[in-house]
Amino acid sequence: MKRRLLNFFVIATFLSLFFSSCKNNASWVDESIETAAYQLDMMAKEISGKEKLPRSIRDGEIRLEDLYDWTSGFFPGSLWYMYEFTKDEMFKKQAVEYTDLLYNLKDYAGTHDLGFMVYCSYGNGFRLTGDTSYIHVMVETSDNLISRFNEKTGTIRSWDFGEWQFPVIIDNMMNLELLFWASDFTKNPVYRDVALRHADTTMKNHYRPDFSSYHVIDYDTITGNVIAKQTFQGYADESAWARGQAWGLYGYTVCYRATGDEKYLRMAENIAGFIMDNVKTEDLIPYWDYNAPDIPNAPRDASAAAVTASALFELSQYTKQGDKYFNYAETVLKNLSGEQYLAKKGENKGFILMHSVGHLPANSEIDTPLNYADYYYLESLMRYKNLISKK
Ligand code: GLY
Repeated sequence: MKRRLLNFFVIATFLSLFFSSCKNNASWVDESIETAAYQLDMMAKEISGKEKLPRSIRDGEIRLEDLYDWTSGFFPGSLWYMYEFTKDEMFKKQAVEYTDLLYNLKDYAGTHDLGFMVYCSYGNGFRLTGDTSYIHVMVETSDNLISRFNEKTGTIRSWDFGEWQFPVIIDNMMNLELLFWASDFTKNPVYRDVALRHADTTMKNHYRPDFSSYHVIDYDTITGNVIAKQTFQGYADESAWARGQAWGLYGYTVCYRATGDEKYLRMAENIAGFIMDNVKTEDLIPYWDYNAPDIPNAPRDASAAAVTASALFELSQYTKQGDKYFNYAETVLKNLSGEQYLAKKGENKGFILMHSVGHLPANSEIDTPLNYADYYYLESLMRYKNLISKK
């Protein structure tokens, strides 16, 4: 009798701990989504009628940009994620409105960032609504993106400014997801072939033996050889700029999703290994550059943390080491959702996260909110919510 009573208490305690931990999960996630919804609504009201997109805070005011800014897709994308979380038609209406603002991008080929701009906005819109009027924008944009591919270098050109002959930045790995979509949708392999050539060349030339990445590689278009390995937004040519490491991790994870080719999985795991071994902060939110000279006083980059968390949640599904990645990403997401990084409702000019770094060497966007930190934070919350509902 005594033993049965004891067993009962052990089981009851276990169940109550189990359910209270589930409840905790649900409550911090739901509270974060609620805060994010409040902030997005506040932002949409604040900028209503301006026909521009919020990027960050500059001189105490919302920095607004037009559709040609590389970050133009993130605010509409965040609204789409919020519609997905809440099913609230008000968020759908706003998401449609800000996505429509980007319509003329279909005729633009002036940057590699088209993947970010169009896949986060139109891509999420199409995924959630099936609106067929979005398709031609995505396909025409994919055509414009592959028009930047150079056979000799085996890469898509990133920028049209600067002194480089043919600059390619690690960020460009993020633009490939649109191309995989385009081939799947049109059944034309050309987009996918370009994406994979770009990913393979980048794997060869952008990465160091420790699987950290250079930021910019300049190519010679006559020989296809590398002219220089440099940085633009990082601390030094040989340093590891935090967001660049996150872009690469995310990009190779997408390549594995699109192909099932183990070499991309190994690459993503190796990059994850570099990030996890070098983060150097207790809360796992990285400094803006892993080699910043003023660590531990260097600014943190919440955007790099959000991109990393989102990528690791996906990667955790593909490998036996999944728990390691899931647990790391969960800690990052919990910390981003704490008072140190998550804005209080009504503050932060309507942005969701605080404390990111845009371009420190140019003295631009240091310790500020950034629309892409918010976008990848929401994506991480979505991925996390979906994963814990299956556990
Ligand atoms: N793609 C530019 C940046 O990450 O800041």
